Amino acid sequence: MSIARKLARKELIDMVPYQSARRLFASGNTPQGKIWLNANEASGNGNYQVNSDSINRYPDFQPASLLNAYSNYCDLSTDNILATRGADEGIELIIRTFCRAYQDSVLICPPTYGMYAISAENHGAGIIKVPLTAEMSLNLTDLTAQVGQAKVVFLCSPGNPTGNLLSKQDIEAALELFADTAIVVVDEAYIEFCPEQSVVYWLDKYPHLVILRTLSKAFALAGLRCGFTLASSEIITMLSKVIAPYPISAPVADIASKALTKLGLEQMNMRVQDTGVLRAQLSTWLAAQSWCSQVFASDANFVLFRCQNLELKDFIFDSLVAKGILIRDQSKQPNLANCLRISIGSEQELSLLQQTISNSFTTTAAPTMAKEN
Ligand SMILES: Cc1ncc(COP(=O)(O)O)c(C=O)c1O
Repeated sequence: MSIARKLARKELIDMVPYQSARRLFASGNTPQGKIWLNANEASGNGNYQVNSDSINRYPDFQPASLLNAYSNYCDLSTDNILATRGADEGIELIIRTFCRAYQDSVLICPPTYGMYAISAENHGAGIIKVPLTAEMSLNLTDLTAQVGQAKVVFLCSPGNPTGNLLSKQDIEAALELFADTAIVVVDEAYIEFCPEQSVVYWLDKYPHLVILRTLSKAFALAGLRCGFTLASSEIITMLSKVIAPYPISAPVADIASKALTKLGLEQMNMRVQDTGVLRAQLSTWLAAQSWCSQVFASDANFVLFRCQNLELKDFIFDSLVAKGILIRDQSKQPNLANCLRISIGSEQELSLLQQTISNSFTTTAAPTMAKEN
């Protein structure tokens, strides 16, 4: 047995890491030459100049320019904000701060974002699953049965991969349920696509509420790795004890601060509007296809849809991969049999996707479709 296998934590040996969009298609593929519609990134390149004046120095633990810029944007004091390496680091910090390894658990509501479970597993925290209902809402009855069992509850609104919002009423009901026993995390990674639905203004009322945000989606900065955890100053102080000493590099702080200026926010808002138009077009097109049995309503920068059967799902996915167009297979998640997810890329990318699917049905032996009633 190798020294690595002999000494590693036993549960790591067979653990499957998060199958990120990039890892899934890693073999020899660079982002160039492919159409990446599988990670809910924005299309188009950024255009930022980086200031390298003090690059010989360690950055501030939490660069003031960045915290002030985000504080202006979200209307909270800087004491309520922790900048992190993406929202993913926020997820990990919350679990490491509140869950004792091999003793405490997190609660997730699948189908949901994969990193809650991966981070919990990595840390040795248990995972309690309370699936969403068939309508993709919280199952409050089943959540009630779990009160006291989990230290951290992860809610995702708008949800990934579903795209729908959880009702504010249900989020509040969950906050009331877990008021004395758990931190309730509301992951708002996609909230810029429906900003009026944010629950950020409940932070005053609910000291156990934590909100996750990111610059990876509407701000089109997934490659920057910058996110924010919003919470009571007491929770932020605790997370600050667990995070690395210099989490935000100077170039990241510099670019992120620029993205949060008046101009950066205007550009972000325009991107959100354009995304909404393209999303509506794509949803309408999908709904008109005979192989598509369901298009999920989305308040985010992606659309989830269900194919009539497994063969059709695989056929569509593989036809796109053959042409270098990558979308995400979500069919292994509960209630999402035969479902695929498409990120809203550029107009050209989406029209190429539609053409490619249409062509594949005319030129190849496509699987048969069920008769419509
Ligand atoms: C719901 C949700 N939360 C968090 C993240 C992670 O975001 P970041 O790129 O900021 O780590 C993602 C990324 O896809 C996501 O979909």
